[in-house]
Amino acid sequence: MYKNILPGLSGLLLLLTCCAATAQNQVMKIGKINTVNISGQQIKINAENAFAEITVYSPSVIRVRMDKQPLTADFSYAVIAKPVTTKTQIAQTDSEISITTDSLRMRITKRPFSISFFTPSGEVINEDEPGLTTSWIGNDVTTYKKMQEGERFIGLGEKTGNLDRKGEGYTNWNSDVFGYATNKDPIYATIPFYVGIHHHLNYGIFFDNTFQSDFNFGASNNRFSSFGARGGEMNYYFIYHPQMADIITSYTSLTGRMPMPPLWSLGYQQNRYSYYPDTEVMRIAQTLREKKIPADGITLDIHYMDAYKLFTWNKDRFPNPRQLTSQLKDMGFKITVIVDPGIKVEEGYAAYENGKKENIFLKYSDGENYTGQVWPGWCHFPDFTSMKGRDWWKGQIKSYIRDGVSGIWNDMNEIATWGQKMPDNVIFNYEGHPVTHQQGHNIYGLQMVRASYEGTREELKKRPFLLTRAAYAGSQRYSALWTGDNRAEEDHMLLGVRLLNSLGVSGMAFTGMDVGGFTGNPTVSLYARWMQIGAFIPYFRSHTGINTKSAEPWTFGEEVLEISRNYINLRYHLLPYLYSTLFESTRTGMPVMRTLALNNTFDAKVYDTRFQNQYGFGNAFMIAPFESTKEFGKIYFPEGKWYNFYTDAVIDGQQEVTTDLSIKILPVYVKESSIIPMQSLIQSTIEKPVDTLFLHIYKGDKTNTFVYYEDDGESFDNEKGVFYQRAITYNPADKKIVLEKTAGSYQSKFHYVKLLLHGFSSQKSITINGSQLSLQAGTHAFLSPISRFDPQGTFIPADSCLIQQATFGNSNELINVGL
Ligand code: NOJ
Repeated sequence: MYKNILPGLSGLLLLLTCCAATAQNQVMKIGKINTVNISGQQIKINAENAFAEITVYSPSVIRVRMDKQPLTADFSYAVIAKPVTTKTQIAQTDSEISITTDSLRMRITKRPFSISFFTPSGEVINEDEPGLTTSWIGNDVTTYKKMQEGERFIGLGEKTGNLDRKGEGYTNWNSDVFGYATNKDPIYATIPFYVGIHHHLNYGIFFDNTFQSDFNFGASNNRFSSFGARGGEMNYYFIYHPQMADIITSYTSLTGRMPMPPLWSLGYQQNRYSYYPDTEVMRIAQTLREKKIPADGITLDIHYMDAYKLFTWNKDRFPNPRQLTSQLKDMGFKITVIVDPGIKVEEGYAAYENGKKENIFLKYSDGENYTGQVWPGWCHFPDFTSMKGRDWWKGQIKSYIRDGVSGIWNDMNEIATWGQKMPDNVIFNYEGHPVTHQQGHNIYGLQMVRASYEGTREELKKRPFLLTRAAYAGSQRYSALWTGDNRAEEDHMLLGVRLLNSLGVSGMAFTGMDVGGFTGNPTVSLYARWMQIGAFIPYFRSHTGINTKSAEPWTFGEEVLEISRNYINLRYHLLPYLYSTLFESTRTGMPVMRTLALNNTFDAKVYDTRFQNQYGFGNAFMIAPFESTKEFGKIYFPEGKWYNFYTDAVIDGQQEVTTDLSIKILPVYVKESSIIPMQSLIQSTIEKPVDTLFLHIYKGDKTNTFVYYEDDGESFDNEKGVFYQRAITYNPADKKIVLEKTAGSYQSKFHYVKLLLHGFSSQKSITINGSQLSLQAGTHAFLSPISRFDPQGTFIPADSCLIQQATFGNSNELINVGL
């Protein structure tokens, strides 16, 4: 009996061994290096199973490309930078190649091909997992990096979950996720850029591949982190700087930065799905003004259209759009309209007929137009990956501008279709190099906002405002982004904060979420807390879904109206600070919402899930958002000294403090040495504030410079030097404040500066632009009552705090030095 089965067993063993061998063979590793070709800053490598190209882009950025095929023409929708000439030393021995720049060292071993990055002093920043390196399974390509001890991961754009992504895996496939759960992945946008942190080092990796991509930060394994895609090249940029801020600056020098937004887009925006007819829109506008709730924008959702047909107006609901937009403009409101990519298939509908004639729609592989269903019914979709498609869209979108519209809200551009399963055999033109849906999907949203931006910019001849739901790396060049259909729930509000913080470290500085929540109805306290947080997010828009209760600030009772007005007022006071911060974003890529990890990268506490939602709003503020239901909460204060924004009480850093919470007050703190320019209250940005800039300075130990920036807020003259820029430096060691020379030819709207000093009661004097002023008690009233934001509702501009009047015009001289 045994005799009979023995051959069977050995056969089985043989079969298993063969299978294992076959399975191993299915994972095709890059193998060993055969030939190396060095030319300037570039190395071309032929390896056993693949081809590679290593290029030094700058002292801190090195690009790695690998493919099974010889590497062909290079193309990216995301990267706009070219390598810069960089001092580079490349050397090789029998066993390895080394590349050295002033900031970074790279070593490539030859057997097997394995990459490591080091600091100039030899610490390992990042290294391939030596047994796994880079490999292919079919067309899937993945690079495996050794998991470093204590390694953390942040970024990857709009991703749910915790600030520290260690132990999690993520997929990038832009998806329409109505009312998504707080752990849903993927959601709307793809930004394959993350920052790894360990041993007091941090680095960035940008994996530029538009196929579905997957990131593993130690999910279900303790050996590696990895990134890979379902097709295309392994194509990543490795970035190293000691400071995370510089990593973001390098990442955004590759993928671009936001242009200066129109000032009105930083004001409060009111929305719902949908305000109609026109009289309802007017009622909302009038109520905002009557109730003295400052606001700058109203957005129109899909019901403004005729049967959801793009580029049309519903004649019954909006008989005279030009008149409406012009009346609203006079009242200080700009209109933003929603656009979806789906063009209804309907004989006689101009956009359909014209698009068909121009042949700009996405097609199946047999040339027939792809048809999918969305709001209007069956639709075709413009191919934004072709110049012709974009030009067609630009021509169409201009009609909105002619009707007086100022902003374009790009929705459903993942592409969203009913069924959520767009076929893979739909072909995208990809600038004349056709690709399938697998490669085109994730950049569709980016190309749509590109076309929308270019079209509106051309027609408006002023800065347009663009908002998008789907995105790929680089979308910041054209558009702000909001986080789609969130839920009116406490944990969604806090998730929203983390999403925006994560987008911020991933190059998207101008972002927002539906304040109040999109699906469901917020409780009274949740709405209030969300409005408070809204004042401290870059794009501040309240929005709600179709079947929800009214969600304007006045619909939740008197107290919430007070709270909402109070914080919207504060937002308008802070516009000079916010506008200057966005200017910084245009220059360096720094986000407006800054996870505490950005400036306190190696402080373990900031990743603690109890504190991970705290964030900086620009450089000066720290916001501690809590659920509205909490009566007390613990706040972590990172290194430095902090001021309670409302009371000026000073808190030492590097400690946890339990604080009472009240729905009337959002916990807000100011970092020592901060400089915060504020203005008087206005109801809309078309109004001029009084001509005094209130400059708040908080005493501290560190020298700090704030770059104040102003321009006309709407034109492109800023690109021609018509702006007002002035660095303001507070130097505590020398006890001086300097308003530096101005740059640019714009005349500031402020003629005077009032300096409001916080925490200076123990200091005897201060020197302002060379003139010493005594700060003796009794000499100046500012020593006792300090200008503060009164949570009960009034902002106290504290005239009594006035110590100095200075010109804030183009003169570099201070006038009225001394009082
Ligand atoms: C989906 C968007 O996410 C939402 O904000 C909008 O209100 C609806 N589409 C209707 O247009």
